[in-house]
This record gives sequence, structure tokens and C-alpha cells, in this order.
Amino acid sequence: MGRHNASTLEREAPPGGCDSDDAPTAGLAPVRHSTDALVLRGVTKTFASGLLGRGRPHVAVDQLDLTVPAGSIHAILGPNGAGKTTTVSMIATLLRPDSGEILIDGVDAVATPSEVRGLIGVSGQYAAVDGNLSGFENLRMVAQLYGMTRREASARAREMIDELDLVAAADRPMRTYSGGMRRRLDLAGALINRPRLVILDEPTTGLDPRGRRQIWGAIKELTRTGTTILLTTQYLEEADELADDVTVVSAGAAHARGTPSSLKREFGDAELTVEVARTGALRSAVDVMTTLADVGSGPPEQLDDVRFRVRVEAGSRTAVRAVTALNRIGVEVLDAGVTAPTLESVFLALTEPIATDDEGGASDVR
Ligand SMILES: Nc1ncnc2c1ncn2[C@@H]1O[C@H](COP(=O)(O)OP(=O)(O)O)[C@@H](O)[C@H]1O
Ligand SMILES: [Mg+2]
Repeated sequence: MGRHNASTLEREAPPGGCDSDDAPTAGLAPVRHSTDALVLRGVTKTFASGLLGRGRPHVAVDQLDLTVPAGSIHAILGPNGAGKTTTVSMIATLLRPDSGEILIDGVDAVATPSEVRGLIGVSGQYAAVDGNLSGFENLRMVAQLYGMTRREASARAREMIDELDLVAAADRPMRTYSGGMRRRLDLAGALINRPRLVILDEPTTGLDPRGRRQIWGAIKELTRTGTTILLTTQYLEEADELADDVTVVSAGAAHARGTPSSLKREFGDAELTVEVARTGALRSAVDVMTTLADVGSGPPEQLDDVRFRVRVEAGSRTAVRAVTALNRIGVEVLDAGVTAPTLESVFLALTEPIATDDEGGASDVR
């Protein structure tokens, strides 16, 4: 599948984006909900590049639209350099967009940043305050920065330590924490003021599988309390595991959005592999290829004497049709299987590697 270009997708989008919940809206028009926790419209950020900023301006985020209903988890999925951190920094009011609108719970984050700061919690901001303080002391300090009394702050810090499974380490200096523990403490810091919207920039990058699962568990737990979560990730399985909706970004622009399953259905490749009884006849191989070309959505491939593969549309009963058609022409099918499309194939279809002269580079893209 070729790369989709944002403006093409925009033209293809249904007016108003009022399609069913599960359909991917490749277009970029946000769907309005009265309960939207976050809305971005046409958000753009350009950085000067080169020495002394004299190079060609670099568009880090390009006309980005995003709508996140309250209580949901939205994942911005994209490779290194796609503009994820720039996007969340603007939402977190740490960076001002050149143009566009950002609404958090309906409040204008660009015009009134101080008003939205109480509504959001941002990871990567608080917990690393002082490595010599214990995890508990760090969290209590963050809580006090939010205006809680010392007593309230202590209670809240203990509560978060409990929730994020840090009890055993709570009173140890933070510098002794493992990577996974630091991330959890960081997450606790982002949650301490009970924000309506939690922003997590690559919350599990660099963690081992166990650490990653712990963070995933904590994030899932959060939505049970109605918290809205915006997270960025370059891990397909993370978006798949956590997100209600995914926006695939590449080079600063959104290329598709939808639920993980709708994206897989729309953009992912499923493959049908059939194994036929050995006949040795060249003629039957040609027949099999012709039949698979009819039912498949791409050129079939012969893997060896008896196995053939073709790309198919997911959920299209192609395997059944293929077996029937092959039987009809006298080819005996020993086995037929369809592999489900993965978000990885969606990612590969919709994003492209970053040019080598860019920071980050494609080598980190998984
Ligand atoms: N402060 C900055 N000055 C200049 N260029 C920047 C700055 N921050 C980010 N960029 C560039 O903007 C692009 C997007 O970066 P970023 O938002 O960090 O991507 P991601 O988080 O998806 O890896 C990259 O090409 C990066 O080099
Ligand atoms: Mg980043």
C-alpha cells in the first residue's frame, strides 16, 4: 500500500466525520462531542533550522486536528521525529503553536494557559525533582506545589504510592530507583492533582516488558476513574493494547485515525496462505496462482512446490472462497490460513522513514 498523503485523505473524509464509531476516519476533520476533553484544530508549529536559525524552517507539526472524548485513551502513534513531543508540549502549554486552536475541556489553552494547567497532568515533568529525596518526599513536594497543605499532600502522596505499587521503595532515595520505578513515580507525579487530562509522552520507551506491563496496568486503571489520557508512542503493541483511538502521525501530519481494529481492517494487510496436495503438475500451480489472483488483493506468490500466498482483505471470507474455487478446478487444498493484519502493517503503510539528515532517524523505528 502506498503512503497516504494527508490532503488526499482529507478530501476522502465523509463530511462532518459523522460515520460510525468504529470506522477509521482517514480524514482529518475532528468529530465534535460536547464531552470532548481535548480538541486540536489546525495546530501548526514550525522551528527555525540550521545555524542561527537561518536554514529553511522546519514544520514539526502540520495542521494537526485531534479530538479526544472524555474518559478515553488516545494514542498518537508515529516514528521518531514525527512531531509527537512537539504536539504534547503545545497541549501542555509548554510551547506555543504558530497557529491553530487547542481546547482542553472547552478551555482555550493558547489564550489562557494558566487556566488549563490545573486540568492537566504531564509525565516527565515532576518526579525527577531531587534524586536524594525519597519517592514519597518527591510526590509530597509536587502535591504541595499544587497548593495542598502538608497533611493533604502526605495523604495524597501515600495514596499514589499505593496505587502505583511503589510501597516497598517509597522511603528510599529516588536515585536508587530502577527505570520502571522512576516511570511509575513520574506517572504518580502527573496524577497527583487529579487532572482531567493526563499527557504521557512515550511512557514506556526503554522499559523492559515487565516494566511496560506495569505502566500499561496503571494507565488502564486510570480510565476507570474517568480520566482522559493522551499518550504518544512508537510501539504498535502499546497503541493496540491501550488506545480507544489512534492517530498515526508522520512528518508532523496525521495520516489516519481510528480504533486499532478499524485501522487494521482498513490499512493493514491480511495474508492467505494455502497448501495444496502435491500434484507435481506445472499446470496446477498456474491454476492456483490464477485463482488466488482472483480472490486476493495483490499478486499471489508461490512459496514452494505446494504453498502459495496472497494478500487479502481482512474479514472478507477470502479463504473460504479460495478453497471453494480451488476445489472446483480440481485442486485439493490441504491447509488454508489467514493471518490477521497487525498495527505494524498499518504503521508501515502510513508512515515513512525519516530522512537520514534528520534527528532521530529511521533506525529506531520499530
Ligand atoms: N526546539 C526545537 N528546535 C528545532 N527543531 C525541533 C525542536 N524540537 C523538535 N524539533 C524538530 O521537530 C521535529 C519533531 O520533533 P519531535 O516533536 O521531538 O518528534 P517526536 O517526539 O515524534 O520524536 C524533529 O524533526 C525535530 O528535530
Ligand atoms: Mg518525542
